[in-house]
Amino acid sequence: MIIEPRTRGFICLTAHPIGCEQNVQNQIDYIKSKGAINGPKKVLVIGASTGFGLASRITAAFGSDAATIGVFLEKPPKPNRPASPGWYNSAAFENQAHQAGLYAKSINGDAFSKEIKQQTIDLIKKDLGQVDLVIYSLASPVRVHPETGVKHKSVLKPIGDPYTNKTVDFHTGDISQVSIDPATEEDIENTITVMGGEDWKFWMDALQKEDLLAPEAKTIAYSYIGPKLTEPVYRKGTIGRAKDHLEATAFDITKSLKDIDGKAYVSVNKALVTQASSAIPVIPLYISLLYKVMKENNVHEGCIEQMQRLFADRLYNNSEIETDDEGRIRVDDWEMREDIQAKIKELWDNATTETLVSIGDLEGYSNDFFNLFGFKVAGVDYNQDVNEVVEIPGLQ
Ligand code: NAD
Ligand code: NA
Repeated sequence: MIIEPRTRGFICLTAHPIGCEQNVQNQIDYIKSKGAINGPKKVLVIGASTGFGLASRITAAFGSDAATIGVFLEKPPKPNRPASPGWYNSAAFENQAHQAGLYAKSINGDAFSKEIKQQTIDLIKKDLGQVDLVIYSLASPVRVHPETGVKHKSVLKPIGDPYTNKTVDFHTGDISQVSIDPATEEDIENTITVMGGEDWKFWMDALQKEDLLAPEAKTIAYSYIGPKLTEPVYRKGTIGRAKDHLEATAFDITKSLKDIDGKAYVSVNKALVTQASSAIPVIPLYISLLYKVMKENNVHEGCIEQMQRLFADRLYNNSEIETDDEGRIRVDDWEMREDIQAKIKELWDNATTETLVSIGDLEGYSNDFFNLFGFKVAGVDYNQDVNEVVEIPGLQ
């Protein structure tokens, strides 16, 4: 079929297999161009099909020749109905990994469930014995709690007061004011339940109980801080509470991994266009200004550049792992640079529908958004008839 983007607000209902394949290829090429990393050998990636999780998997496999098991929740294709992008990404990744002689298998299902944890445990036991790195990179709006069966929904709301600021519709470039009512206590609890650290701890406990963690194994989850500007809706909002919980959980996990001398880390990454971040009000305008300023200063990065730097310069640099005074690894250092943030602040005050075209990088935002789904990828012929039914070779 000929596959075209079909957008509805901040989601796209279709994905292009060849475009996704090209995206994965570009990320692999980037990692290879940066040279070998003395990194992990057997890696479990939870949330492995898109965004930071996919980039982590590619970095481990093609930077360190690691065997990888990927867990994700993606929609398989049907005739005349394309799969979700993470499906095509995972198919492309596995094909490339297998061609390179690397072990790569995947599990598609709800990572929050006991069943998927058990299936993953069985696969590690059978094929890898133990893992030396666990990446936890889930981004989900909902979680069915494995003990209670209750379905919790996360929300993106401020806490305490209503929040009003500018936001942009990145399809049209229209800037408008958005007002978001504050979260209830229940909203806060639910968001922590979905995006906090409880499930990360459940995973690590389950793996440890079955003796599947190698001596000195590491685990890492991803967080975000961002500037004052976005604090009410991000770091001091409901999602921020969940990130506080996630960051605190790292210390709990490290404590429980004492016997094997294992360590849990949180890496604070930069703001990027992903399916998750497009859904947060105000953030797309911030990102379009951020992209403009970071590109002008030659410090712009995508997921793959961030993960390459995380692995090569932070996690596996053959010396002590550098953290901030709250124990977090920072690869948002360039985003948070004083000169970069001062410039964004100035642009923010001047941003209108009329000025954004020149002062922001809306085109970069929009392009990255379509790229997530395999569209507008350089070198891909979108007029060609493609087979939408693609298999993931190592899918369990
Ligand atoms: P993403 O949406 O690209 O990836 C989410 C992954 O989780 C996908 O692989 C998806 O299949 C998987 N997933 C979702 N629900 C699942 C479920 N129930 N079971 C199994 N798999 C499931 O998101 P991302 O932006 O890469 O986010 C990953 C992490 O990085 C999140 O913790 C996010 O907060 C953090 N982060 C994001 C940004 C950003 O700007 N995007 C910045 C810093 C940190
Ligand atoms: Na991810």
